[in-house]
Amino acid sequence: MRKNLKFVSAQEAVKVVKSGDHIHLSSVASAPQILINALVERGENKEFKDVRIHHLHTEGEAPYANPKFEGIFFHQAFFVGSNVRKSVQAGYADYIPIFLSETQKLYRSGTLPCNVAMMQVSTPDNHGFVSLGTSVDATLAAIETADYVIAVVNKNVPRAWGDAMIPLSMIDIFVEDNTPLEPAHFADPDEIECAIGRNCAALIEDGANLQMGIGAIPNAVLAQLGNHKNLGIHTEMFADGVLPLVESGVINGANKAIDKGKLVATFLMGSQKVYDFIDDNPMVLMQDVGYTNDPFIIAKNPKVTAINSALQIDLTGQVCADSIGTKHYSGVGGQVDFIYGASQSQGGKAIIAMPSVTKKGISKIAPVLNLGAGVVTTRNHIHWFVTEHGAVNLYGKSLQERARLLTSIAHPDHRESLEKAAFERFGPHYHHIGL
Ligand code: COA
Repeated sequence: MRKNLKFVSAQEAVKVVKSGDHIHLSSVASAPQILINALVERGENKEFKDVRIHHLHTEGEAPYANPKFEGIFFHQAFFVGSNVRKSVQAGYADYIPIFLSETQKLYRSGTLPCNVAMMQVSTPDNHGFVSLGTSVDATLAAIETADYVIAVVNKNVPRAWGDAMIPLSMIDIFVEDNTPLEPAHFADPDEIECAIGRNCAALIEDGANLQMGIGAIPNAVLAQLGNHKNLGIHTEMFADGVLPLVESGVINGANKAIDKGKLVATFLMGSQKVYDFIDDNPMVLMQDVGYTNDPFIIAKNPKVTAINSALQIDLTGQVCADSIGTKHYSGVGGQVDFIYGASQSQGGKAIIAMPSVTKKGISKIAPVLNLGAGVVTTRNHIHWFVTEHGAVNLYGKSLQERARLLTSIAHPDHRESLEKAAFERFGPHYHHIGL
C-alpha cells in the first residue's frame, strides 16, 4: 500500500490553508509538528490572517500561540495545556469551555467549521487502513468534516485498533515524517500523592471499571491495586501505571458489560512503553470521544470508579478544576462526563482527589471559591472527595454536613479557620450538626 501513496512536502501540504480558516490539530504526542512548523513559516511570511487553531492538550511546541502572531493565528483551545497556558492567560490565545465528550460535536454539528484537519497516522496496512494512534478524541470528527485532511504518515505512530483505524480514502494529502513521538513525562508520586493513592485505592472494589485523569495521582492509585481482581479500563486516557496491572492479569476487563475484556480510551499520554503496548494490540480500543466520554455509555458498565483531580473546593462541595480565580489554567476535560457517568453506574463511585494544600501551603479546601473560579463539578454532582487525610462522601449530605466532612480531611493547619468560616456562614447551630 505504502508504495502507492503520493507524498508531498509539509510546505506544499499547508498551502491549502487560507485566511479565516479553522484548523484542527491532533492531540498529545500525535500533534503533527512538521506541519505546524510549515504553517508557522507561512505565518512568519504573513501569507494569511485570522487562522484559528483548535486542539486538546498537545505535547511539544505550540509556536502559533506566540503573541507575535497576533492577527495571523488565533488559538482557541478545547483544553489549555502547559504549552499554550501563558498565551491564554495573557489573552493572545483563548479557551472554548466544552465537555470533552462534546468536542467532537462542535465539528459534527457544524458549530465550528473545520477547514483543514492535520494529524499523524501510522503506516498503512494491507487493507488500506492507517491508525490515528494516540489521538482519536475530536480528531476523527475533524477528519470527517474537514475540507482538507492532511496526514503525516509516521512509522512511529502505533497501530491502535478501534475507531482509530481509518481508510486512506479519508485523507487528501500525505506527508512523510518519521520523527519519534514525544513521550509524556510524569514525576514519581511524592509522599502526599502516595497517601492520596492509598485512600483512593481503599474505595476501589474488585471488578471496578476505572477512569483516571492525568498526573501523578492516577499512577499512585494504580500502584496500590496489585492485589485487586478483575479490574477494567474505560477511560479517556491512561498512562504507564496500567501496564504492570495488565501484565499481572489484575486488569482483564472481565467485569465489563460493554467492550468486555478490552481497554477503552480516546487519547493516550505516556512513555514509549505505552505506545508499544497499544501497537497492534487487539486488547486496546481507541474510540471516538463521543463514545468513551458519553456519560450514558460510561454508566453501562458496573462499578465505574472515576478519579479526577481539581484545584479548589469550597465548603459546600463546588469543585474548581480549570482556573485559579480568573486565571485560566486547564479545562473541564472529561471530569464531568466521568463524574456523572460513574455516579449513574451500578455500584459506581465518582471521586475527586487532591492534596489538601498547595506546595506553598495554601488550603485547597476553601470557605468560598476564589473570585472568578470556574465550577467544573457542581455541588450536585460531587460524591466522594479524597485528600491525603482521608475520604468523605458528600452525596446526600446537607451544606452544613459537607462543611464538617470537608474540614475533617483538610490540612490540620487550616481546620480551625475552616471551622470558623463555616460557623460564620451557617450560624451558631452549625456546631450541633453531628456526622
Ligand atoms: N490556589 C492557588 N494555586 C493553586 C491552587 C489553589 N487552590 N491549587 C493549585 N494551585 C497551583 C499549584 O500551586 C500549581 O502551581 P505551579 O504550576 O506554579 O506549581 C498549579 O496551580 C497546578 O496545580 P497542581 O496541583 O500541580 O495541578 P495538577 O498538575 O495536579 O493538575 C488539574 C490539576 C486540576 C489542573 C488537572 O487535574 C486538570 O486539568 N483537571 C481538569 C480536567 C480533568 O479533570 N480531566 C479529566 C482527566 S484528564
